Amino acid sequence: MKPRFVDPFTPNRPIDDPDRFFGRADPVNEMIDSLFQIKSGNPKHTIVTGDRGVGKSSLLNQIYLTANGDNRLSDRLNIDRGVEKYNFMAVWHDVDSTQTANHLAMAILSKFESALKKFLSSFTLEIDLMGFGKLGHDKANPTNMTQLIDQFVSRISKVALESKNNKNDGVLIFIDELDRIQPDSLISSFFKLTSERLARDGLKNIGFICAGITGAVQKLEEEHASILRTFRDAPLPRFDKREGEEILVNGFRKSGHKCIMQDLGEKSYEVTVGLPEPIHLLGSEMLSVDTDGVLDASDFENAIRKIVTDVRKNKLASLLKKAGGGKYQKIVEAVASFDKKIVPLDYIAKSINQEQSQFSTNMSTLLEREILFKPAIGFYAFTDPMLKEYVKANGVLALDD
Ligand SMILES: Nc1ncnc2c1ncn2[C@@H]1O[C@H](COP(=O)(O)OP(=O)(O)OP(=O)(O)O)[C@@H](O)[C@H]1O
Ligand SMILES: [Mg+2]
Repeated sequence: MKPRFVDPFTPNRPIDDPDRFFGRADPVNEMIDSLFQIKSGNPKHTIVTGDRGVGKSSLLNQIYLTANGDNRLSDRLNIDRGVEKYNFMAVWHDVDSTQTANHLAMAILSKFESALKKFLSSFTLEIDLMGFGKLGHDKANPTNMTQLIDQFVSRISKVALESKNNKNDGVLIFIDELDRIQPDSLISSFFKLTSERLARDGLKNIGFICAGITGAVQKLEEEHASILRTFRDAPLPRFDKREGEEILVNGFRKSGHKCIMQDLGEKSYEVTVGLPEPIHLLGSEMLSVDTDGVLDASDFENAIRKIVTDVRKNKLASLLKKAGGGKYQKIVEAVASFDKKIVPLDYIAKSINQEQSQFSTNMSTLLEREILFKPAIGFYAFTDPMLKEYVKANGVLALDD
């Protein structure tokens, strides 16, 4: 039996340990710059955007740590922080789909209230959450929005004052999963109006640091006041072949394994297309199927098999079902049958034997259902790269249209 070891891969949660956070020097640098600007009274609000599972929450986590004085990542990446260390008063909130702007504002304020109570024994401030709660949660009309911003900004300014008295660098509001909000939640107007109002009122040491999936954030942008004009966009790319390989090899090394696959970078990129979530999943499963401490091509194949028949079977099966029946399954089958991950539309047309115009609505629906994404005009790929492996192993579903 192989000796037991700690799995270095974490496909199910964001990276919290700065020593395990791979790459990303540019976005980290940019976001540390935002911290510096906010501390210096030149607020720069940021929104991290990228594909599902690309590492947005992990990046936000690292910036949260840095903002709270943890210098491990910035030291390792040799990034000039501009200060010895940061000491912000920060709260973190994960949005959920039922929340309106009122809920969000309330959640932020109550988090500050408990944070202040916890950290400042001399805490005397009254945020008056009760009064705020009375605003209600109506799907807003414009007067309600104005009122909301007024009430929110006046309370946040008390937090800012308290943080100043406490010699903090300023106030940071981390908001993750922004893509979950509904377009009618008015959250994007809330951001825009609040950030403008804060600047107007001279409250310049307060910053928002958010994250959300690219497409969804663009949708907010279309449907509401321009959030991307108020926020600096920090787009997070996928990892390239070499980076993906390095994440795997580092993990293997850390757990005392050796990998003898010459083409690990190439092959792993084929099934993960640079998304760190499947990279971690692959690494974790390669370690789990291996029996001798030496990782080779058969461990790779076995890991993929295990992912599609066991570990992610249910998730992939429901994803496939979500694609829809009939023509949708045919399209999915065509995408899976191409020898590369990124599939030209011509190829799909040829495979399903239809003119492009005959199935363009289906393609849009598959994008909407997040089964496919469009890396370039005229090209499509599976959002979850493992879906391809699943379909190759199990075929598609015989569902009616
Ligand atoms: N910089 C990184 N180095 C190593 N692993 C990473 C890095 N960023 C993310 N990961 C890994 O990738 C996976 C997805 O990361 P994370 O949850 O941060 O992505 P996300 O973009 O927030 O996903 P979602 O869209 O589902 O919210 C996790 O398993 C995490 O451990
Ligand atoms: Mg996330």
